[in-house]
Amino acid sequence: MNISNLKSRFPVFKKNPNLVFLDTAASALKVDEMIKATNNCYTNEYANIHRGNYELSSKLTKKFEDARKKVADYLNTSEKNIIFVKSATEGINLIASCMTKRFLEDGDEIILSYLEHHANLIPWHLIEKKIKIIPLGLNDNDEINYDELNNKINSKTRLITLTHMSNVTGSITNFDKIKEIARKQKIPLLLDGCQFAPHKKVDLKELDPDFYVFSAHKMYGPSGLGILYMKDRWIDEFTPYQGGGQMIHDVDIDKSTYANGYEKFEAGTPPIAPVIGFSSSLNFMDEVDPNVIYDHEMNLHDYAYEKLSKFNNIKIYGSNNNKGAIISFNIKGVHNSDLGAMLDKKNIAIRTGHHCCQPLMKHLKVTGTSRISFGVYNTIDDVDYLIDSLDEITKILI
Ligand SMILES: Cc1ncc(COP(=O)(O)O)c(C=O)c1O
Repeated sequence: MNISNLKSRFPVFKKNPNLVFLDTAASALKVDEMIKATNNCYTNEYANIHRGNYELSSKLTKKFEDARKKVADYLNTSEKNIIFVKSATEGINLIASCMTKRFLEDGDEIILSYLEHHANLIPWHLIEKKIKIIPLGLNDNDEINYDELNNKINSKTRLITLTHMSNVTGSITNFDKIKEIARKQKIPLLLDGCQFAPHKKVDLKELDPDFYVFSAHKMYGPSGLGILYMKDRWIDEFTPYQGGGQMIHDVDIDKSTYANGYEKFEAGTPPIAPVIGFSSSLNFMDEVDPNVIYDHEMNLHDYAYEKLSKFNNIKIYGSNNNKGAIISFNIKGVHNSDLGAMLDKKNIAIRTGHHCCQPLMKHLKVTGTSRISFGVYNTIDDVDYLIDSLDEITKILI
């Protein structure tokens, strides 16, 4: 497969061939294989799954459960540990809610970092226990300051929950370092893989977190689907997050018992077509190879980083080491939202604003940044066009 130009696999470019899409961190464009599979599911295969005793339903049930196995194989884990939710956000809310019911008490502490997306902050604000949030600070390169961890862990620490890769700076968390310290103290670990999983191989056997979450829509897949990996221990000990159909064992009018295993967390009709579609996104990821994707995107990143660094009065946030293909920056004298709007006029899509990371913005002492993020479809020509356009715009605005 020719990784240097995969635009032909993304139908949006047929209608808009000159689109330069640099906002994959928000949501990725959709690959043909996923669109075809979703379309086929609704057109030819659709019925509700799990409870129908007719062929259409049983065939799609099998396909749905095969997709769970595909997700598990992709992550090198068992399908028994894969729970389908509506988004990564819902996955983290599920964990926060389940932990609150059985594992958290007033005064307990959880550790996270200044790099977290609001999706890994606000669920912890909303829980009905008075827990303390202990943030890990950032070093001069705006990476997590791992040295703080030993001092911040104590007998009240109940969870360490961290982004696997920052959606603002692209910084990749050194999970081995965290794990080594946390395991000694038997503290569970949650990794938010939203930005990492679409760009680099995830091996859950090797990583070995307690929980891992990400969203299908950032991985060339459908919206409305999140993947939550949970270790057996938590699947067994947590009680259900929501109640409804499919998650039950036995129901009376005034009481019920619920299913064992991942099913207890999947109340109601699941996102059937998105799961089928996502299985095809993973076929595409496998076909290209996530490690090849990472190298391709980082080549573009490094090329863009070097060219951007040459702009007068530009500030690029975060270091250029151990990261994924995201660059956040500000140019003195140019407001990020003006820049975004002017690039849009040139058919270039970037993201501007706080990126759902207000604590990080406060740490950086800015209200927002301009962010470019790469996907498998981007090319060197995209970067050249961005740089030429930035050159033109900054000459007008400054
Ligand atoms: C690092 C990170 N975590 C969590 C999320 C939330 O993902 P979703 O909105 O798909 O639930 C995002 C989305 O941008 C993200 O970048």
